[in-house]
Amino acid sequence: MAADQFIVQPGQALHHETTVPGDKSISHRAVLFGALAQGETHVRGWLAAGDTEASLRAVQTLGVAVERHGRNELTLHGGTFRQPAAPLDLVNAGTGIRLLTGIMVGQPFPSILDGSAQLRRRPMNRIINPLREMGADIEGTAGYAPLYVRPAALRGIRYDMPVASAQVKSALILAALFANGETVITQPGPARDHTERMLMSMGANLTSDNSGSAVHVRSGARLHPLNFTVPGDASSAAFPTVAALIVPESAIRLTNINLNPTRTGIFDVLQAMGGDVAVEETGTAAGDPVGTITVRHSILRGVEVGGEVVVRMIDEFPVFMVAALLAEGETIVRDAQELRVKETDRIAVMAGELRKLGAQIEELPDGFRVVGPQRLRGAVVDGHDDHRVAMSMVVAGLAAEGVTHVHDARCAADSFPGYAETMASLGAAVRVEALG
Ligand code: S3P
Repeated sequence: MAADQFIVQPGQALHHETTVPGDKSISHRAVLFGALAQGETHVRGWLAAGDTEASLRAVQTLGVAVERHGRNELTLHGGTFRQPAAPLDLVNAGTGIRLLTGIMVGQPFPSILDGSAQLRRRPMNRIINPLREMGADIEGTAGYAPLYVRPAALRGIRYDMPVASAQVKSALILAALFANGETVITQPGPARDHTERMLMSMGANLTSDNSGSAVHVRSGARLHPLNFTVPGDASSAAFPTVAALIVPESAIRLTNINLNPTRTGIFDVLQAMGGDVAVEETGTAAGDPVGTITVRHSILRGVEVGGEVVVRMIDEFPVFMVAALLAEGETIVRDAQELRVKETDRIAVMAGELRKLGAQIEELPDGFRVVGPQRLRGAVVDGHDDHRVAMSMVVAGLAAEGVTHVHDARCAADSFPGYAETMASLGAAVRVEALG
């Protein structure tokens, strides 16, 4: 099959100002929650990417009418669903399948939720088990998708989440909107809270205590539609941020970035490494603080990462591994075992691809250890159908000697359409070429 590759030439400093595409987590929720709201939801700055388009197609399959105004602006006519004629195909989208399952268990018709071979490898018992406790009639395929859902009466439960997962929390919150009685969910760490913020602003019966560690939800509220602009994705901003830190003489500015504190762990850790990363709030969007990130090339120092910050930067570890290789001294990451059940096992896959550039990385069950700074040499590497792996390998290529080819570049568009163009607009020598 024809595919694309990124071709990366090192040596060019990054300059200028840009923004990044809309937040993926919020864009999924915009269409899934807009489908539940009574009336017209308007979204600007929506992320039109592989994962979010899968959620959008799913709600269309459920009978929700969608008008598109250009690529990034949508109107959804929510409030009623019809029984889908075919399985709901979430392709590679873990957020899409887990959140939509929380909605489907509350519907008066059966449904099947499925996805790509990659999505079928991701664990679903983490939602199946608590949803069953709520009374849901749901069956997986030995704990994986496809998921078979039939109508059932739901009841509120108390659930203490064993892992800090926003997808699990969100699936249960959504099911609780259809349950009798109160649902209380506690989380061991501060997983992203977009679901709580958005549903509260839509009028849901939902409260989150001050520390955010317990969420209380009741059914019965009529959900109002949203009319808002999605801010730029902090996870996408992490790629040019690390690139500018490690390529000498770089100085860039990223505007309109979502600075929700459950998402900004990467910037805190890069600052702790001595990175010149200035984060400035300039306003709010969709209830989240939004602002500008200014980054200058820096000599980074190794750091220990573990505990509470891990969930606040969970999607940024692939590119963080690149930063750690270029930092002086030892970097150790612990408590990040969730990386092993993302789109890929991101500890093993990133270590394997970076080794092709000559890196030395010690894998730990729940993280990794590296001692830097290390010299990287350009090579042919693979994206493994994992957008964040492909994009991180581009950043590594910018700090290597010689040219790097990242095969399977197309998957970057699962979260960051136009990635090569954005990096090139900052001055990096990154381009996409057809392969094979
Ligand atoms: C997401 C939650 C996180 C994150 C994923 C998006 C979300 O997953 O890794 O990219 O939008 O809720 P987990 O909830 O499985 O940790």
